[in-house]
Amino acid sequence: VSNMLVDSFGRLHTYLRISLTERCNLRCQYCMPAEGVDLTPGPLVMSQDEIVRVASLFVSSGVNKIRLTGGEPSIRKDIAEICSKLSNLKGLNTLAMTTNGLALARKLPNLKDSGLNLLNISLDTLVPAKFEFMTRRKGHERVLESIYTAVDLGYNPVKVNCVVMRGFNDDEICDFVELTKDKPINVRFIEFMPFDGNVWNVKKLVSYAEMLDIVGKRYAGLKRIQDHPTETAKNFTLDGHRGTVSFITSMTDHFCSGCNRLRLLADGNLKVCLFGPSEVSLRDPIRAGADDNELRQIIESAVKRKKASHAGMLDIAKTPNRPMIHIGG
Ligand code: GTP
Ligand code: 5AD
Ligand code: SF4
Repeated sequence: VSNMLVDSFGRLHTYLRISLTERCNLRCQYCMPAEGVDLTPGPLVMSQDEIVRVASLFVSSGVNKIRLTGGEPSIRKDIAEICSKLSNLKGLNTLAMTTNGLALARKLPNLKDSGLNLLNISLDTLVPAKFEFMTRRKGHERVLESIYTAVDLGYNPVKVNCVVMRGFNDDEICDFVELTKDKPINVRFIEFMPFDGNVWNVKKLVSYAEMLDIVGKRYAGLKRIQDHPTETAKNFTLDGHRGTVSFITSMTDHFCSGCNRLRLLADGNLKVCLFGPSEVSLRDPIRAGADDNELRQIIESAVKRKKASHAGMLDIAKTPNRPMIHIGG
């Protein structure tokens, strides 16, 4: 590919995260305010054809991995069709999804047949009452069912995303590690990040160092695996465990120098950094009739504007961004 997406720091962008919808069937406190968020009106949300067109343009510019996010991507009615169209793009190696797993188990066999080959499922507590508190909805057992269905369908590993918050689930870290004992599950402990409208404060952040200490004290043989430079996670194996554990350390040890990610939001904006305010619409030029070359130019100049790294956690917390539910992680 001759027109790869390289930024001004030499980082090659081969990974596109596409938010398919701003809607969600949960109301997680770390993701959105209780009253919900303003939704982009339906006609202004990217259509299936527009998503496929943009995705195919990115793939022709060297993107080889697409992750579908939301909101909750699995509630989009045309999710299976989107998966099959994207997974058929020549040059795409990985089609992944990050999902809350609430309404997934039943749809999963079809999604797998449609080419979805990597699955990250969010689950922050193993206690049903705490799940209801955090998500403001019921459904804990349905999420567990989705995780086990994914394992049974052969997803390996199934990544389980656990956002750790002090006083909420920091006492469950070792219980989560137990999920990795007999199953090919990768449990990922995520440092709590600030977004507009969430309940972040620095006291609720449990740092990587603290989490590592908790796991290291209980489990002998916690061993760091050599990660790919573009990984968000620091990965570890444990003696005698089939699965693995990881830590996503955006706040205390960011990994921006290896960043290979771009984001297409449900409203058609291209966002070059999770924490950067810089966005540009692709939907508007598409609807004004732009051809592929014009779109490529818009994309390339947005990539060139990407900053070396995010601002550091206290500055991030003070800078306006979007609510997480609009960004999709
Ligand atoms: P893989 O593609 O399997 O590596 O997953 P991922 O970690 O990129 O994505 P996922 O949607 O599972 O997100 C897990 C956590 O990583 C969430 O808290 C995301 O917000 C965070 N995350 C994902 N991408 C980035 C990124 O580019 N920068 C930062 N700082 N955090 C990210
Ligand atoms: N901090 C860290 N991770 C978050 N996620 C959602 N909100 C936050 C936050 N404030 C996670 C979700 C999901 C992924 C896309 O991002 O749990 O797994
Ligand atoms: Fe990339 Fe921005 Fe995430 Fe850093 S914070 S890894 S630059 S998206």
